[in-house]
Amino acid sequence: MYATNTRDSGIHVVTRDGKIVFTESVKEFLKDKKIDSLKELGDGSVAVECSRSIFILKPQMLSMRKNVYDTIKRLKKNLRSDPTDLELYSKLAKRYMENDPISEEPYQLYLSGLEAAAKSSNFYQARRFYEKARQIKPTCSEPCQLFLSYVKITPYKQLMRRIHLDLFALTKVANDLPNDLKSRRCKTRLLIGEGDFSFTSSLIDKHEVTHPNLRKAIIATDLKATHLQKLSKDQDKKKKVLEKRIVDLKQCGVNVLFGVDAKEIHQTFKGRRFKRIQWNCPFGESTSTARKEFTDTIPKFFQSCSRLQLPNDRVHITLMQKSDEYWKERQIENRIVHGSATAGYRLIRKRSFGTPDKKRYPNYTHVKTNTTKPYNAGGEENEFIFEKTDTVLPVDSYRKSCKLMDSHKKIYAIKSNNATRKPPLEECYFECSTDEDSSDYYESDSGEEL
Ligand SMILES: C[S@@+](CC[C@H](N)C(=O)[O-])C[C@H]1O[C@@H](n2cnc3c(N)ncnc32)[C@H](O)[C@@H]1O
Repeated sequence: MYATNTRDSGIHVVTRDGKIVFTESVKEFLKDKKIDSLKELGDGSVAVECSRSIFILKPQMLSMRKNVYDTIKRLKKNLRSDPTDLELYSKLAKRYMENDPISEEPYQLYLSGLEAAAKSSNFYQARRFYEKARQIKPTCSEPCQLFLSYVKITPYKQLMRRIHLDLFALTKVANDLPNDLKSRRCKTRLLIGEGDFSFTSSLIDKHEVTHPNLRKAIIATDLKATHLQKLSKDQDKKKKVLEKRIVDLKQCGVNVLFGVDAKEIHQTFKGRRFKRIQWNCPFGESTSTARKEFTDTIPKFFQSCSRLQLPNDRVHITLMQKSDEYWKERQIENRIVHGSATAGYRLIRKRSFGTPDKKRYPNYTHVKTNTTKPYNAGGEENEFIFEKTDTVLPVDSYRKSCKLMDSHKKIYAIKSNNATRKPPLEECYFECSTDEDSSDYYESDSGEEL
């Protein structure tokens, strides 16, 4: 229940955008009586206190099939015990959409979830509701305004900046951006195995207006210099594009380096700290021996990262996940569970990096190792984001750690196809939902030097 409008006297439930979803005109029992209070109950009914009596008015969704209506009623009841449970909201939203594909209800539901989560100071969850609402109405600034109204009274400055940036992207009103933003430094990023460097370039382009200093904060690397290699004739043109891209990146302030081995970065960059280290689609050579050898690479990479990072710094790894069961196989081949656990990293997010129809970085092309050839297998790429913790947990307790750690962070399960009771972490994969949020490239508010 959000507001009333100028209708005749009676009880009207009006959504935020002024749509009347329930109306009860003045009836005999209410005639000439003063309404003392109105209260929305958890199941959507309205309690009306009047002349020392309470009336419960229950909106009926007449056009809805009985079984859909019953499911919705049951889900709403479950929501009462946890009004911030995103999964329940998503199930509810699905039911509403099945009944009416253009229903406004899912959007309103996610806004309510946002408010419920923000009121209980669960800003991780509130952000997920926020992203869901934005996905439904990508051009609407209401989720930004609503989320901002809660975040601005908290110490979460980075989150506030993020929402301001989202708002600016919609309105292009400079006042929507905090004053000092453009001159801010960005977090130092080390990009590994960049291949054709289209990710580096796309990342900079995407944030050009809001993060002009991002380019200077990036060191983009690869093990081999593909642009110096002899490629087949049909790749000549692409090689020229790659050469030009590298020159452009260097000219705009990116530090581009070759011969950087992911397993040795603690030596290459000894004494430096990188708050963000990212490797998209790690892969070595295609021979079976090389693939077998590569299984050690990610665990060694994590170990190497941990010597350049402090607690709360992050490692991003993007993996081609395709569909069916391939996503598990790819995680196991890359040993992200084993690598992160043994180096003291915890998974904090998994988010969509790109599908054939929707790319997070529009000009990025995922290329095969040592080539400029796109990897055309289609499917979905997911970005796994790990945060360095201050303890390396004993391997056995790692499986349970997802339950023990901060409930404001991502919940995931560690699973295996191996049916034994305690399968080795090398054979495990993460199972968890995919988030839709975006990164924060700005340096933290503490002004701490790198
Ligand atoms: C499948 S390609 C992906 C390229 C690019 N990141 C992308 O997403 O299209 C894998 C990349 O990892 C690089 N690579 C393989 N082993 C590496 C290692 N030990 N250290 C650094 N880079 C490595 C390869 O040179 C190649 O560019």
